[in-house]
Amino acid sequence: MSTTSSEPVSKLSADATLQEQARRHLWMHFTRMGGYSDQAEIPIIVRGEGCYVYDEHGNRYLDGLASLFCTNIGHGRADVAQAGADQAKELGFFTNWSYAHPRSIELATKVASLAPGDLNRVFFTNSGSESVESALKLARQYHRLTGKPNKYKLIAREIAYHGTTMGALAATGVTELRSPFEPLPQGACHVPNTNTYRLPADYPVSELAEAVAHRIEFEGPDTVSAVIMEPLQNAGGCFTPPEGYWQRVREICDYYDVLLISDEVICAFGRLGEWFGAQRYDYLPDMITTAKGLTSAYAPMGAVIVSDRVAEPFMTGSNSFSHGLTFGGHPAAAAVALANIGVFEEEDLLGHVRRNEAPFKAMLDRLLELPIVGDVRGAGYFWAIELVKDKQTKETFDDEQSETLLRGFLSGELFRRGLICRADDRGDPVIMLSPPLIADQEQFDEIESILRPLLIEAGDRMKVRG
Ligand SMILES: Cc1ncc(COP(=O)(O)O)c(C=O)c1O
Repeated sequence: MSTTSSEPVSKLSADATLQEQARRHLWMHFTRMGGYSDQAEIPIIVRGEGCYVYDEHGNRYLDGLASLFCTNIGHGRADVAQAGADQAKELGFFTNWSYAHPRSIELATKVASLAPGDLNRVFFTNSGSESVESALKLARQYHRLTGKPNKYKLIAREIAYHGTTMGALAATGVTELRSPFEPLPQGACHVPNTNTYRLPADYPVSELAEAVAHRIEFEGPDTVSAVIMEPLQNAGGCFTPPEGYWQRVREICDYYDVLLISDEVICAFGRLGEWFGAQRYDYLPDMITTAKGLTSAYAPMGAVIVSDRVAEPFMTGSNSFSHGLTFGGHPAAAAVALANIGVFEEEDLLGHVRRNEAPFKAMLDRLLELPIVGDVRGAGYFWAIELVKDKQTKETFDDEQSETLLRGFLSGELFRRGLICRADDRGDPVIMLSPPLIADQEQFDEIESILRPLLIEAGDRMKVRG
């Protein structure tokens, strides 16, 4: 039997245009590849500088999403790139399986010094999903080591995004992302998020935290391993925690011996004006998961930062965390992360975010004048604008209208007018903004100058009621 097809396989030559090569060979993530045709180009970003990126035609865009919440220090930092290159020349790679090397040691020490409380032990990964996956496994093994082997279940929140590997996906509370891959690993369940804009009038805000306790009781406290939540939830549109929410969730976790994981893949490294989101909302988790801003994405890297208490059983006798990743703590990525953190410190990026949060918010609040803008919420440099069909009743768009509004109009127009941000409907339709942390009034004005007329036009098209 022949193993080769008689039909020649069509492959493009290297001198085809980038556009042709991308259409034929590149598989983009979470992307409707069928949507690209001769009329609809794949956007090819070739260069970045500060808050801006440039496409293959030389068009400039304000990177209002920091390239998926990543480039916190902005684009084009040759010094940070150089740190990676210098390290690659000295020691291109060595693993953290059984060995250590200077940069991962220095970075672990630095990250521990910035982390709250006794979060002193750092396990490196290569992405946010790997950080979440590692934290979930760590929680399970921790309970085994401490004599509670049945504690394996996980509690997360509805609509929250925690990544795409199977464990992280089980934590993710977005039905459309989960359903193509079910059955997912057992034991993950979800509680309401903190969408206070749409909280029923008779539902007390304090019940949002109590829902975690009810769920633990329902599942059986002896079976629950961990609670995972973002400080401020991204998916659904920047759901901020009500006053006292995190403190109550911490108490509940302590009471039931459940580990609290703060998923800070977005919220760490300055996004909320602090090193970590937990510092912004003043709670102490057992683990923090990070990625993105750790290196400002000049190299792929993530980390799980673990409390001494949780790490302790793994550090004695013949015990070990039965988990590893070849590239975790990669020397070049670690050197980049150290240089990235150096930029934060030398240029006081946290102070810059704190000083500019109010003017950023003020600009967005002015958009509340528009009939289509129902709510503006967020913190630091992380904001969502919720779009509504009727501002008085908060009526939202149905699926078809949302498709027309977001993918049929706003996403394309925002890009065409030079603003990269996210028009998202994993919950109700929102526009997400999360610019590089170096952005200031000039960029806020530019965002407003693009968003305002576009949202007026969107409101007219969708026959929004004021
Ligand atoms: C809160 C959170 N957790 C996990 C992830 C997964 O990270 P990654 O895409 O690096 O795997 C993301 C990605 O945006 C995230 O926002």
